[in-house]
Amino acid sequence: MRWKRAAGRGLLVLAVVLTGCVSSGARAEVGGGGGRGPLTLATAGDLTGYLGPLLEGWNRTHPAERVTLVELPDSADETHAQMATDLRGGDRGRFDVLNIDVNWTSEFAAAGWIRPLPRDRFPLDSFLPPVVDTATYEGRLYAVPYVTNAGLLLYRKDILDREGVQPPRTWAELEHAARTIAPKYKLGGYAGQFLPYEGLTVNAAEAVYSAGGSILGGEGTRVTVDSAAAREGIGFLARGVREGWIPREALTYKEEESKRAFQDGRLLFLRNWPYAVVSAQGSKVAGKIGAVPLPGPHGPGKSVLGGSDLAVNTHARHPDSAARLIAYLTGEDVQRRVLTEGALPPVRAALYADPALVRRFPYLPTLRTAVLTAAPRPKSPRYDQVSLVVQAVVHDALTGHETPGRAVRRLARELDAIANR
Ligand code: GLC
Repeated sequence: MRWKRAAGRGLLVLAVVLTGCVSSGARAEVGGGGGRGPLTLATAGDLTGYLGPLLEGWNRTHPAERVTLVELPDSADETHAQMATDLRGGDRGRFDVLNIDVNWTSEFAAAGWIRPLPRDRFPLDSFLPPVVDTATYEGRLYAVPYVTNAGLLLYRKDILDREGVQPPRTWAELEHAARTIAPKYKLGGYAGQFLPYEGLTVNAAEAVYSAGGSILGGEGTRVTVDSAAAREGIGFLARGVREGWIPREALTYKEEESKRAFQDGRLLFLRNWPYAVVSAQGSKVAGKIGAVPLPGPHGPGKSVLGGSDLAVNTHARHPDSAARLIAYLTGEDVQRRVLTEGALPPVRAALYADPALVRRFPYLPTLRTAVLTAAPRPKSPRYDQVSLVVQAVVHDALTGHETPGRAVRRLARELDAIANR
């Protein structure tokens, strides 16, 4: 598997190599019609470097509908900003097909940037049920689920085994091991993604949801965050930083930095997406790690539902080709490669029960449960603003600038200003 170095990349445009000829099977995937021709596909940073080679396959068999991959930054916020700038621009935008984060569908649909898609053209029935919801807005399908995601707790199995300790199921067990075992091995205790960006919104929402709280209700119109559960969730993370079993350095981590800290052998526990499990298996800690569901205060916690959906720009140059490409990328073969080459969780349910895949990716059953029980991020047509406020306020609580109680009250006030503007 090719792992790409992700640090410090700006806008990287990858023109996908085009060779070969049309295969007979290629035309049969989706119904015909007009609107065929070349496409651009914009995506957030491809952390496992699998997508370019995968699209070469499409380009070989669809020379008249070749795709150019436009790779935007690793951070979801920066990708969102670049896509939004492009789509807001006067002309039709540079991107025909957009690989959008699951929580952007409402905003992009409400703004008229992406077009409704015919349900019968895509195999929605073979997807894991929660992912289809992320692609709908006001009852219509505006995108097609492409990859899903759920957070897992990665741990150093070698160390817990040596200490005769089971992987933690509760926050108290996690905290105890992070506080007492990690220092014996000169390791940091626990980390997630705590830099102020989308990843912090995810980690904060997971802490709040795991404690039984919520952030917004309704379609983003009701603010529900001012609760004892939210104080407990944010308080758990803030206490970790204050007491040192969450290393301060974790306040600067996105996915990649946190993954590196774990695979370089500097952490006992890490919350991350499953791609980090695969990556760790090829690192210094290979054979020494395990992955379990995220813990919560009194038992298993809750993951936020991650992943991305493929949407079509309202002004796409070739909408029929765009739909055909999406059908290809969500087909069984490509979905298998999304897992085996991209280390990303596929949306097709059957793959989670495939014995050969389960042997190769033993975390698949745990991941399936985590996805099926995951909670969506607050749904709002102003999701980008909601997330920015969550990140800023929670980061202040984690750095100790504000108590969890004050932070949660301030969050409620600021979210209220967005929800009822
Ligand atoms: C992963 C998830 C995505 C999330 C992002 C946060 O890419 O799939 O949904 O927004 O991480 O950093």
